[in-house]
Amino acid sequence: MVDDDRSRILAADLHDADVVVESSLRPRSLDEYIGQREVKANLSILLTAARARGEAADHVLLYGPPGLGKTTLATIIARELDVNVRYTSGPAVERPGDLAAVLTSLEERDVLFIDEIHRLNRAVEEILYPAMEDYALDVMIGKGPSARSLRLSLKPFTVVGATTRAGRISSPLRDRFGATYRLDFYEEVELTDIVERSARILGVEIDGPAALAIARRGRGTPRIVNRLLKRVRDHAEVHGDGQAMRLLEIDDAGLDSTDRKLLASIIQKFASGPVGVAALAAVLSEEVETIEDVYEPFLLRLGFLDRTPQGRVATEGARTHLAGLGYEIPPPRRAEPDIVPLWEEPGSSSGGT
Ligand code: ADE
Repeated sequence: MVDDDRSRILAADLHDADVVVESSLRPRSLDEYIGQREVKANLSILLTAARARGEAADHVLLYGPPGLGKTTLATIIARELDVNVRYTSGPAVERPGDLAAVLTSLEERDVLFIDEIHRLNRAVEEILYPAMEDYALDVMIGKGPSARSLRLSLKPFTVVGATTRAGRISSPLRDRFGATYRLDFYEEVELTDIVERSARILGVEIDGPAALAIARRGRGTPRIVNRLLKRVRDHAEVHGDGQAMRLLEIDDAGLDSTDRKLLASIIQKFASGPVGVAALAAVLSEEVETIEDVYEPFLLRLGFLDRTPQGRVATEGARTHLAGLGYEIPPPRRAEPDIVPLWEEPGSSSGGT
């Protein structure tokens, strides 16, 4: 196996080969969906109300790290409403006309899923505002002084937008969503349940400790545990202590080689930080966006990384973890300055003269 292949296993983005298997593993209803309890509870109310009124559901914005189930939820929303879903993404919609074509093809109460919605360009976004607010499509006819705007009505529909970060969405667009839900990393028990469910669907026999071993290394992400499950099945080496994981270079904390490289760079090249994300990206030959959206959220959650106004800092936890794996750990630059009291506390016994 080449190195590239290994480091890809923990990436939460979707590879073509995964799409088919992934779709067979995806839950099809809110009942089947494991985890994200609060989001599920809120969505359930929103969908029940929309169904009872016989209206299109409010527009829903889902945000959070990749691989946590945004597309799956959009599909579930459509199924629960018994309507069709159309999938598109910010970068795929290049011109206003592209979006107009999609919007006019929607049936009453359909769901339009827009992945990476923060990447829609300005001209396209402007078509979306009246479409979401008034189910209206404003088209310009003619050019120059004789140009006129014509308003066409659309059938009521629901946009489900997805983004890795809500902060990247322009505020006029954000304001048009009736509900915004943040997806968070999954708990270990939830991931174990997901591994066991996926194993049943794939016809793989797996015992509790093996399912847990995979869950622990899944970066809190269903897409990753499902991918690991398939790789482990390929290796056919499921032992409770994760033999296959060693082959895949995933350590006990669930870090893959890129995670370790990122932390090791901060510790070794930048004396544990602080270091700016752009410098880090250059050293790792990664995009800043990939570091921020894919790697950092999990390292922050583990407490291995801090974001400070001065830059990224590798924590004592990260230093200890890497030391345990045999990495050389030079002393950190940011030793706390000694605090020299300007005067002694009254009554202090260590007082001077
Ligand atoms: N497969 C992927 N994500 C899942 C989830 N949240 N629940 C159940 N199965 C899944």
